[in-house]
Amino acid sequence: MERRGTITGWGKCVPPVKLTNADLEQLVDTTDDWIVERTGIHERGISHVEVTDLAEVAAHRAIAAAGLTVEDIDLIIVATVTPEISCPSQACTLQERLGAWNAGAFDINAACSGWVYGSSTASAMIEAGVADRVLLVGAEKLHFVMDYWDRSTCILFGDGAGAAVMEASTAGDGVLAHDLGADGGEGKTMVFPTLGTRGEILRERDPAIDRLHFEGQNVFKIAVRGMESSVRRALERADILPEDVDLVVPHQANARIINAATRRLGIPPEKVMMNIANHGNSAAASIPMALNDALDEGRISAGDIVVQTAFGGGVTWGSTVIRWGERTTRVGKADIELPPTDLTVFDLLADNRAFFAPYHEQSDD
Ligand code: UT7
Repeated sequence: MERRGTITGWGKCVPPVKLTNADLEQLVDTTDDWIVERTGIHERGISHVEVTDLAEVAAHRAIAAAGLTVEDIDLIIVATVTPEISCPSQACTLQERLGAWNAGAFDINAACSGWVYGSSTASAMIEAGVADRVLLVGAEKLHFVMDYWDRSTCILFGDGAGAAVMEASTAGDGVLAHDLGADGGEGKTMVFPTLGTRGEILRERDPAIDRLHFEGQNVFKIAVRGMESSVRRALERADILPEDVDLVVPHQANARIINAATRRLGIPPEKVMMNIANHGNSAAASIPMALNDALDEGRISAGDIVVQTAFGGGVTWGSTVIRWGERTTRVGKADIELPPTDLTVFDLLADNRAFFAPYHEQSDD
């Protein structure tokens, strides 16, 4: 039987401080009804710690669930669009924190599609014999790049991390097929201009420049079409029909996007995993957090066909088709939690509000 990458452990880390729709009503001109109807989101996590802290907790949980120790990991891939710094990579910073000294480590930036790109890369590395046990992590601190005066974006995103261990299997399970795509020409629809080297070295951060540029409706259309056609291509490569899919675990961007894309595929809602209500859109962390919840809720059985699909900034999209292996419950549990905090969500967002306030005093955007 072919050698493939199969998921044997999973974990997530959700920050304890939540930004509820009621909180958002105090910050911007919005309502709980509008947010729930247009997005399906009720609350999202706002992290009081750094990306490495979120990633560390999710990683330990995934490694324990796989019944392994950090020494067993030979490759760490972190998918993120909000790394703490660009060098060392988020994956190297995490490797040091974990003490996973037997692992190579690198980051993937495919924005919200990062987890699918990472799954694809991890399984291809396993198929090629480059790695045997990969730790894949999606981790984001998106609140750092939001503008909490802008109602069209700040309602959507949340922080968090999810992780999985992927191991080599020759039992017929694992990642059966992939589809990855991108259209850099549409990249302007979603831009974080703030996290790179562009511009003069002496330029100070400017709230008019260093804010998320986002064309919500364009992204919406690209997302629905992109996920549908990507899933179709991946299923075709796996020689599997949409009706034979047991569970779709999509990127949690907007409940309406997920419903529209899966309706077009003819996949009924009971075969679609959604946990966006409590997490919002956590970019590369959203699929592993949803996968974690699907497994904990007993929604995945051995032998199931599970499809991961995403779209995101770049723009990028991708899907993987997985035949699930024997592991559907955790082998072990990690004894690790985030440090507690007394800070409120308004404390955590105070600097952001102060930074962007002058921009909104001058502009109606
Ligand atoms: O992971 C990839 C990241 N991107 C995404 O997932 C986003 C994809 N796009 C979307 O999810 C949706 O486009 C949004 C949720 C962002 C917006 O929903 P929409 O149904 O496309 O609304 P819209 O942009 O067409 O706005 C409709 C109205 C506008 O008012 P007018 O011009 O009709 O008077 C907006 O100003 O709703 C207004 N609006 C709001 N009202 C209350 C926009 N944001 C809000 C808000 N509360 N938070």
